[in-house]
Amino acid sequence: MPKESVIKKGAEATISVGEYLGRRVVFKRRTRKGYRDRRLDARITKLRTRNEVRSMAAARAAGLHIPWIYDVDLREGLIVMQFIDGQRLNSQLYCLNHEERISIERKLGFEIARMHAAAISHGDLTTSNILVSGSDIYFIDFSMATRPADTEQLGVDLRLLKEVYKSTHSEFEDEYGEVLKGYTDGGGSREAIEKVAEIERRARYV
Ligand SMILES: Nc1ncnc2c1ncn2[C@@H]1O[C@H](COP(=O)(O)OP(=O)(O)O)[C@@H](O)[C@H]1O
Ligand SMILES: [Mg+2]
Repeated sequence: MPKESVIKKGAEATISVGEYLGRRVVFKRRTRKGYRDRRLDARITKLRTRNEVRSMAAARAAGLHIPWIYDVDLREGLIVMQFIDGQRLNSQLYCLNHEERISIERKLGFEIARMHAAAISHGDLTTSNILVSGSDIYFIDFSMATRPADTEQLGVDLRLLKEVYKSTHSEFEDEYGEVLKGYTDGGGSREAIEKVAEIERRARYV
């Protein structure tokens, strides 16, 4: 067994870094839920893992930066993928000056537009599921992705990112506008942007 070190143990998965066929990789192992029926658990593991790798492949085919997948074990809920030597956007934002941030944010919007143009909704579009490596923006964590996504699902992606800017990055809350500018310039779905307003109106009444 090659050497591995755990970098994150979450509710859904354990992430470790190690080596596979001489390459630096991330092992993403889906966590078993002890409280769930074993057969149901096995089914969910298989479906989510398959959805994640297929969505990653589709996003790559759409021209996005996505870690290469080297191996998958659906039964174990294991994905072996390229280690991206970079930083999560949620911390990267604090290491940049205003100009650099705006440039990353516009680019991010552009990349999201590209994903949405391929009718892929990410499903968990937060700044911890976006990695910045050099000048490239990588998307990870596609387990909640939908293909083909409808306008509502695309809108939910934008809404979540907007919320993250508001709650987690409140000091640059207005810069969500830069993401949106990149999205629009990249030919993003105008209907999805309109959906965000609609979702927000709905949310106010519940
Ligand atoms: N391919 C990768 N390269 C580098 N770091 C990664 C990679 N995949 C995941 N990570 C790191 O592990 C964290 C959790 O991975 P993620 O796929 O988002 O799982 P979770 O479901 O636990 O959020 C990420 O925020 C990132 O810091
Ligand atoms: Mg994540």
